[in-house]
Amino acid sequence: MQDQFYMVLNIMSIEGVSLKHHNTFALLVNTAHLVIADRIELMLKVWQKTQKHQTPLLILGEGSNVLFLENFAGTVMINHLKGIYIREKKDTWHLHVSAGENWHNLVCYTLKAGIGGLENLALIPGLVGSAPIQNIGAYGIELHNVCEYVDLLDFFTGTVNRIPAAQCGFGYRDSIFKHQFQTGYIIVGFGLHLRKKWRPTLKYGSLTQLNPATVTPTQIFNAVCAMRRSKLPNHHKIGNAGSFFKNPLVSLEQSKELISQYPNIPNYLQTNGCIKLSASWLIDQCQLKGYRVGGAAVYPYQPLVLVNVHNATSQDIVILARYVRNTVADKFNIWLEPEVRFIAARGELNSVEVLS
Ligand code: FAD
Ligand code: EPU
Repeated sequence: MQDQFYMVLNIMSIEGVSLKHHNTFALLVNTAHLVIADRIELMLKVWQKTQKHQTPLLILGEGSNVLFLENFAGTVMINHLKGIYIREKKDTWHLHVSAGENWHNLVCYTLKAGIGGLENLALIPGLVGSAPIQNIGAYGIELHNVCEYVDLLDFFTGTVNRIPAAQCGFGYRDSIFKHQFQTGYIIVGFGLHLRKKWRPTLKYGSLTQLNPATVTPTQIFNAVCAMRRSKLPNHHKIGNAGSFFKNPLVSLEQSKELISQYPNIPNYLQTNGCIKLSASWLIDQCQLKGYRVGGAAVYPYQPLVLVNVHNATSQDIVILARYVRNTVADKFNIWLEPEVRFIAARGELNSVEVLS
């Protein structure tokens, strides 16, 4: 297996490997090496090799939250650790899931097993191992609502450490895996706990029309899939990375000023006292739907999504994102922050700095 692994690495290093099918923007970028790692020992070997040669290493899932700015000059390692294990306790189902499982398949798997709780998070692209990083969320649920722990491989020590959910720093599109545990670590699995006494979450969109007394997890799953299909572009047909920017969080004072000027502005009070605004609405008010730069455009049906309409380059997307951000700032004095991670030749760059 070791020989096989090095052979793969060597073949890739000669030819360079296209990442077109490893980024949902479908950008035509390459990496010098590509490794698909299905064992922790392989992951450690790849890390050691890249350290020895001082070449960059990028961990990748399905590439649904990244923007490659150019070709990657090192090794892209795709996480392929598989396995879903279910333990039953009196009141709860406990799942341990390996990081290389597909998130949506996990949602379907639990529903088939008669376990509710993940249905609001249906159809989110990507792998399980990426889900804790930005604490994926949709339709009133975030990963932190169901997460029990995250297993993190520390490349420096070669050990896997279990981090309880309470210590993961989960916030809106945020966690410690974007900060102190970003470099030199890889998520290898996580634990979920799902209550047997299932309760529906019906706060959002068409879900509010469902009857909480009779609704089933599968009905919610179907409604979420229908809403997502009607709003979001299918990334297998039109390249995109979901919401390009995060919804901005502003202070109560700033929101009051905005509400007095724009009485229809959607605003949502958060538990920490901040107000969340809708980036889609802000972009929409700037009349940017359909706005195009080269092969990239603001998606006409959901303006928070930037799409690769036709052979877009990384530069097209960067110029478009900068234009959207500047236009929103000129009108509302709000600077949107990208949700998408910007990857340059030797690793991640600060996306706000790239767009400034
Ligand atoms: P990737 O894009 O491959 O990686 C994302 C980042 O995580 C990169 O920086 C990468 O280096 C790092 N990384 C990946 N795996 C690991 C690991 N095992 N250990 C350490 N670091 C790692 N997100 C939501 O929250 N809600 C939504 O509703 C939603 N809808 C979307 C709809 C569409 C059409 C698309 C294209 C995207 C959407 N997203 C949404 C964003 C995206 O699906 C999530 O961020 C997802 O978790 C990314 O998974 P991935 O495997 O593709 O990650
Ligand atoms: N809106 C407009 N014009 C439009 C579309 C939307 O003004 O053309 C306004 C409306 O006021 C609407 C509001 O935007 O009520 C919110 O729109 P939507 O319900 O589509 O949600 P969103 O805030 O744009 C967020 C997440 C999505 C997640 C959905 C559903 C972020 C950055 N995005 O989008 O996550 O699926 O809610 O919960 O938080 C992602 O992260 O990639 C992603 C797709």
